[in-house]
Amino acid sequence: MAIKRSSSQQKSERLPRQKGKRKPTEVKAKSPNSEENILVSTEIVEDLENNNEDKIRPHRLVDYIGQKDLKAVLQIAIAAAQQRQEQLDHILLYGPPGLGKTTMSLILASEMGVNCKITAAPALERPRDIIGLLVNLKPKDILFIDEIHRLNRITEELLYPAMEDGRLDVTIGKGQAAKIRTIPLAPFTLMGATTKIGSLTSPLRDRFGLIQRLQFYYVDELTEIILRSASILKLEIEQEGAEEIARRSRGTPRIANRLLRRVRDYAQVKQQTVITQPLAGEALDIHNVDARGLDWTDRLVLSTMIDQFQGGPVGLEAIAAATGEDKKTIEEVYEPYLLQIGFINRTTRGRVVTDKAYEHLKTVDS
Ligand SMILES: Nc1ncnc2c1ncn2[C@@H]1O[C@H](COP(=O)(O)OP(=O)(O)OP(=O)(O)O)[C@@H](O)[C@H]1O
Ligand SMILES: [Mg+2]
Repeated sequence: MAIKRSSSQQKSERLPRQKGKRKPTEVKAKSPNSEENILVSTEIVEDLENNNEDKIRPHRLVDYIGQKDLKAVLQIAIAAAQQRQEQLDHILLYGPPGLGKTTMSLILASEMGVNCKITAAPALERPRDIIGLLVNLKPKDILFIDEIHRLNRITEELLYPAMEDGRLDVTIGKGQAAKIRTIPLAPFTLMGATTKIGSLTSPLRDRFGLIQRLQFYYVDELTEIILRSASILKLEIEQEGAEEIARRSRGTPRIANRLLRRVRDYAQVKQQTVITQPLAGEALDIHNVDARGLDWTDRLVLSTMIDQFQGGPVGLEAIAAATGEDKKTIEEVYEPYLLQIGFINRTTRGRVVTDKAYEHLKTVDS
């Protein structure tokens, strides 16, 4: 089976984004019931303002397309919290990357009229990282922690009383002289996001009042997202052109917006003013994104399963070893979409390639 290698640039687009940046400033927070100062540090914020994506990121719930169930649940939660003049309950969002978890946290903050601080679990190395964020929250603020399944144990244990009782229990000093100091916190909402809900410890998971899964988007929803992004970017695009991009977007808004940009480049260089279906198709073909949105790595995974493991059943470890791809990336990025479109099945003995995938690969190969 012939596999076309994608450009290195296309591969690098798949690498995880750098989630947080750390400001080196250290602030001194006063413990409310003592003279003692506790050194807390670091405001860790995602660099959203400078991010190109921010322009097309929806800022209100009405502009957030799709995810009907999630929106219905959150609309009730917002209205109830506002009536009671309280903060939102803690919310855990899970699902594959790029489906709109960060976007939703920013929308909730703007609907509630509060601030949203964004960080990611790997940036919360030391206890003072999380302490610094928590003590600086204003009432009803949202603290968004991405990749929350990667929190270390100490940080996670600091979060338990913070989430449950709005306080921090901080140990000061060492050994026999160690004292536990309790710091009251402003009532806040913790929003956690994860691609791997199964890796969360149950004490942490159980402290979330709302646990919601994000679904892959339908083609008509992605079409709407592309038409909206195109109008923000001032691009002229036909309905069919948007649909062509949507079909190749793996059910994922982030990919839809990225492909739209690639098509924009192509149209510009070819001096075309309107994005039509054939133009979008041509543009994406040269990026090796096929008619179902599969890229080089998806096809490598499938063809490896077929050529080396007779179509399966085969374990994830073996697929990772044979393709040279990271096991986690296959599990979190590639496999969910292949499962979703029914190109592979998961059985107790491993993954199996389906007839649908064989059919599709034939059309791509020819
Ligand atoms: N429902 C939506 N409607 C319109 N655009 C959306 C929607 N969801 C996401 N997007 C677009 O997709 C992009 C990616 O979304 P976002 O960053 O929220 O994904 P994510 O789930 O947080 O991904 P990750 O798991 O990688 O952090 C956003 O910049 C936004 O423009
Ligand atoms: Mg995100």
